[in-house]
Amino acid sequence: MNIEYYKQSNYIRIFFMKNMKLLSVPELRERCPLKWGNNIPKNGISLGVADIDFEGPIGVIDYLKGNLKESFNFYQNQSGLKSAINTAEKYLNNKGINCNQENIQVIDGTMMGIYISMKWASRINGDILSLGPIYDPIWRHAEDNGNKIRWLGLKEDGIDEEKLLNIIEEQKIKMITICNPVNPTGYSFREEELKFLADVIYDNELFVFSDELYEPLCFGSEHISMGSFDKIRDRSILLYGFSKAYGLAGYRSGFMHIGPDIENIKYISSQQMVSPSPISSLIINYALNEVDAKKWVTEFREHCKNITEFAFNYFNNSGFKLQKPDSNFFVFPDLKIDDIAFTEFLLKNYGVQVVPGSTFGPDGKNHIRINCGTSEKRLEDAFERIMKAIDEFNNVKK
Ligand SMILES: Cc1ncc(COP(=O)(O)O)c(C=O)c1O
Repeated sequence: MNIEYYKQSNYIRIFFMKNMKLLSVPELRERCPLKWGNNIPKNGISLGVADIDFEGPIGVIDYLKGNLKESFNFYQNQSGLKSAINTAEKYLNNKGINCNQENIQVIDGTMMGIYISMKWASRINGDILSLGPIYDPIWRHAEDNGNKIRWLGLKEDGIDEEKLLNIIEEQKIKMITICNPVNPTGYSFREEELKFLADVIYDNELFVFSDELYEPLCFGSEHISMGSFDKIRDRSILLYGFSKAYGLAGYRSGFMHIGPDIENIKYISSQQMVSPSPISSLIINYALNEVDAKKWVTEFREHCKNITEFAFNYFNNSGFKLQKPDSNFFVFPDLKIDDIAFTEFLLKNYGVQVVPGSTFGPDGKNHIRINCGTSEKRLEDAFERIMKAIDEFNNVKK
């Protein structure tokens, strides 16, 4: 691997990063406690929790101050502020999802939407087919609510159609869950795959749950939503949020598109939140309408593209197999190692935190998820430590 090349190109990239500010480690320790908590040793590097090391868009505080109202002392509409529902509806329609306002529910973070969806799914007969590896709360909330999971591992080039059809034929499946783009691999499903899924869902009268939180971070071609296939739009639950692509994780904001059984899903939502915080709605308006938020996303997306390419090349050139990300800010190399024991060893002995691949289901075994939402310099330091740790871990085992 030609590190010098990356160093030179990094210099140029940082030069052009106008709207994004990298926070120092002491700043992160104070302000980003979930990612940079006390479990990260002195001189350690956190590449674990999926928060980022950059300051979010700076206009957010003024925007909130300017839009808070005394009426927010009262419970607000159960589905969210009207203005935010309008914004979300417009956004979804622009993505080719032909919905209207009753399909939208504002949520206090995407996580809330996962929970609500899985609680609803538990009332239906049948199993969930999960395309893995997948963001772990999707399968954990599903199981916690009494759903049974059947797994289908994604291949490097996506869905194994034959295997999927076999599972549908042999098992009673009620719902397919996907994360698109995929946390942890950075893969975005191709149009043909989504078309195939839409046909299967329609023909077998299934539901689909698609977590599309990372959709603004697709590098090349435009993101295609599962809900953009009209024939299954009313069978689709889709999730969006602002924690990642917009750098606004702390505000706990997102929204759901609810295709099926709107009344009952909104009922579950009302039992969880009563009405979402008005801050969640204001963040939707800020993120999707304001120019400084849009500029920030554009710049962050470019950074994600460059940094995941750097990370991909590093592991690929070091002889490890991994998906080349075409979105978000993770890489997911197969280290052919006991991922749970190794991640503990890595943190204890080299101060680097990553997430064991098994977290993301059986297809993540032997992998680690590396959060690259930081600078090249921090990554380079961490990668050198990871390589040393792999050697030492494998030698100790011998
Ligand atoms: C795919 C995915 N969905 C949902 C979430 C939760 O996001 P939020 O902060 O909006 O609750 C995460 C956070 O890492 C995620 O990666």
